[in-house]
Amino acid sequence: MTGDLADAVRHAVGAVTDPELRRPLADLDMLRDITVDGAVARVGIALTIVGCPAAARIESDVHAAAASVPGIESVEVAVGVMTPEERRALTERLRDGRAPRQMPFGPDSLTRVIAVTSGKGGVGKSSLTANLAVALAARGRRVGLMDADVHGFSIPGLLGIAPGTQPTRIDDLMLPPVAHDVKAISIGMFLREGESVVAWRGPMLHRTVQQFLTDVFFGDLDVLLIDMPPGTGDIAITLGQLLPHAEVLVVTTPQEAASDVAIRSGLVARQTGQRVIGVVENMAALTLPDGTVLDLLGT
Ligand SMILES: Nc1ncnc2c1ncn2[C@@H]1O[C@H](COP(=O)(O)OP(=O)(O)O)[C@@H](O)[C@H]1O
Ligand SMILES: [Mg+2]
Repeated sequence: MTGDLADAVRHAVGAVTDPELRRPLADLDMLRDITVDGAVARVGIALTIVGCPAAARIESDVHAAAASVPGIESVEVAVGVMTPEERRALTERLRDGRAPRQMPFGPDSLTRVIAVTSGKGGVGKSSLTANLAVALAARGRRVGLMDADVHGFSIPGLLGIAPGTQPTRIDDLMLPPVAHDVKAISIGMFLREGESVVAWRGPMLHRTVQQFLTDVFFGDLDVLLIDMPPGTGDIAITLGQLLPHAEVLVVTTPQEAASDVAIRSGLVARQTGQRVIGVVENMAALTLPDGTVLDLLGT
């Protein structure tokens, strides 16, 4: 009888999802000893690393799941840590057989990669990218957002990710923080306190942006949005080479010669094989129902 109850608890707890890995604990091999003594369930789980930020949430979800099983009146959760071997097996499984440091967004990937770019800063590129990401996630798409605007990173702030939040590391795999159902990674998450990205040398920036694509575990995504640095600088070219099949969305304002920027971006995109899928004219004047034009932002 208690054996059946233990199975029921195992089943309930196994269905709890890890908020970062977004998979059920049973699939992640995180369940350990689960016993039931009378109406008391004792549940052992093993997390990936000590002090993983999701630990408290997993523990309380596990507690609630076990307590929801009819016949269980009290629950004790013992949280342990995976051995290095268990962790290695897990990261291998998460990589889906891909070798470490391999880029998952190549031409045969099912993820749509959209690079959002602009001719200059301040046109609303980051605002648009963050809003697009959240809107797509709200429609049920699995969305990743990569903040590649290394000198003007603003994605964590726009998504409400607390300053100082860092990706969780499982060995050499990095798990992006999730906000509004969007998995987001930004260079801002790699700066030590008080450090400015201006102090970084070019190669270090390149390596970091490249790492975003290889070492960050986004899992299966429907869409990866990239907040590109404005213009056609180094990082843009690196990313163009890494992601030749990416689609490009250009953000501009009426103030600039919109068509000029679009044409220029189109030419750059064509060189790397990327395709411009649209131009967004942001901060444009608003035509009211009575026909008068309200140029709120004076652009
Ligand atoms: N459509 C809009 N209407 C009003 N303000 C906007 C609009 N789009 C962006 N902004 C504001 O303009 C500023 C620059 O936007 P941001 O997204 O940071 O631009 P970029 O990433 O191109 O530098 C921000 O203060 C943002 O809130
Ligand atoms: Mg920006």
